[in-house]
Amino acid sequence: MKNVDSKRREFIADSARFASLAMIASALPLMASGTNATKGATMQKRKVGNLEVSAIGMGCMGFSHGYGKTPPKQYALEAIREAFDFGCNFYDTAEGYGKEMFYAGHNEELVGEALQSVRKNAIIATKFHLSDEEGKKPLYDTIKSHLNASMKRLKTDYVDLYYWHRINETIALESVAQVMGRLIKEGLIRGWGLSQVGVKYIDTAHKITPLSAVQNLYSMMERECEKEVFPYCLQNNIAVVPFSPLASGFLSGKVTTSTKFEGDDVRKFVPQLSKDNINANQPLLELIRAYAKDKNATPAQISLAWMLHKYPNCVPIPGSKNKERILENLGAWSVALSNSEFKSLEKELDKISIHGHRGIEETQQNSFGNKWKNQNFKKAKE
Ligand SMILES: NC(=O)c1ccc[n+]([C@@H]2O[C@H](COP(=O)([O-])OP(=O)(O)OC[C@H]3O[C@@H](n4cnc5c(N)ncnc54)[C@H](OP(=O)(O)O)[C@@H]3O)[C@@H](O)[C@H]2O)c1
Repeated sequence: MKNVDSKRREFIADSARFASLAMIASALPLMASGTNATKGATMQKRKVGNLEVSAIGMGCMGFSHGYGKTPPKQYALEAIREAFDFGCNFYDTAEGYGKEMFYAGHNEELVGEALQSVRKNAIIATKFHLSDEEGKKPLYDTIKSHLNASMKRLKTDYVDLYYWHRINETIALESVAQVMGRLIKEGLIRGWGLSQVGVKYIDTAHKITPLSAVQNLYSMMERECEKEVFPYCLQNNIAVVPFSPLASGFLSGKVTTSTKFEGDDVRKFVPQLSKDNINANQPLLELIRAYAKDKNATPAQISLAWMLHKYPNCVPIPGSKNKERILENLGAWSVALSNSEFKSLEKELDKISIHGHRGIEETQQNSFGNKWKNQNFKKAKE
C-alpha cells in the first residue's frame, strides 16, 4: 500500500493547488446546511484527467427517467442553472437517459439547453452504448455518429468527458480505446471514461488511451470499489466518479418503509430498499445521523463528505429532481471532517453489516434492469 499512499499524498498536494477545503469550509459554516446553502460560493475543485471539476457534480438522469414522475422542463432547466450558480460545474448525463419515458437524448437536451450560455465554464460528461450489431461496423464511424448526435442535443461542438456506458463483451475494448484516443486528438472529446468496470478492464483501456475517469457504483452501502478500483485509479491518476452515492436516497435518511415509489422509480426493484432491508439497515442511518448532528450537516452531506475525505480522486455525482436537495448535496463539499472524525466514522462503518445490494443485477441488465423496463415503463406511460 506504500505506493498507493504516496500517490494519494501527491494527489492531495495537487488538489490543494485549487483550494483549501478546510479553510474555505470553516469560513462558510452555513453551507453545511441545505436550507442555508450559500449561492455563488467557490466550490473546491478536483481533477478529472485534465479537467478541473467541482468536487461534487450533478447527476441529471432523474429529470428524464429512473426515479418516478419528472418535474416540468422549466423546473429542470432552472435546477441545473441554480446548481451552476452555486458552484457546480460538472454535469452527468447519457444518450440513453429518457429513452423509455420520453425519447433517447431527452436528458442531454435538457442539460444542453440549461448550460448553453455558460458552456465554456461547464464540464459535460455523457455516455454512449454500443450494440452487438454496431460492433460489426467500422468502430470509429459508429462511435463518432453517437458523439455527433449527443453534441447536437447538448448544443456543443465538443464533449468534456465521454464514457462507454457499459462494456459489451462482443466488442474489443482495445478498439474502443483507440477510437477514443483519436477523438481526443481531433478535439471532439477532452477525455474519456468507462462505467461500472473492474480493474482488469480499466488497466486494458488505460494502457491504450489513458482514462480520465471511471464511473462506478459507490456509496457507504456499496464499497466494493475500495478493494481494487480506488487504489488502481489513485495510482494512475484516474478520477473515480461514484454514481448512486446516496444509495438512491437511502443515505439521506428520508426513505422509510412507508415511502411509495411511483411510476418508473427504480427503487421498487432495489433489494437494499425492500421494507425488510430498510429496517435492517437502520444502524447505518443512526451512525450517519449522529455525525450529521455534530457537524450541523444533513445525513446526505455526511455520506458525501465521507467519500470526499477518503479519496482525493473521488468526485460524486448525486442525483435529485428537487432544487433544495440538489443544493443540499452540493453543500456537502464544505462539511470538513477532521482526520479523527473520519477515522472514527470509518471504524464504526466497518462494524456495520449492509443488508441487500443496489447494483449488481442492474449492471447485468438481465434481471433487475429488464424487470424495471418491462414492468415499469409500460405502466408509467399509461
Ligand atoms: N453509470 C451508470 O451506469 C449510472 C447508473 C445510475 C446513475 N448514474 C448517474 O449517477 C447519478 C446519481 O445516481 P442516482 O440518482 O442513481 O443515485 P443517488 O444520487 O444515490 O440518489 C438519487 C435519489 O436520492 C434522492 N435524494 C438525493 N438527494 C437527496 C437528499 N438530499 N435528500 C433526500 N433524498 C435525496 C433523490 O430523490 P429526489 O429526486 O426526490 O431528491 C433520488 O431519488 C444519476 O443522476 C446519473 O447521472 C449513472
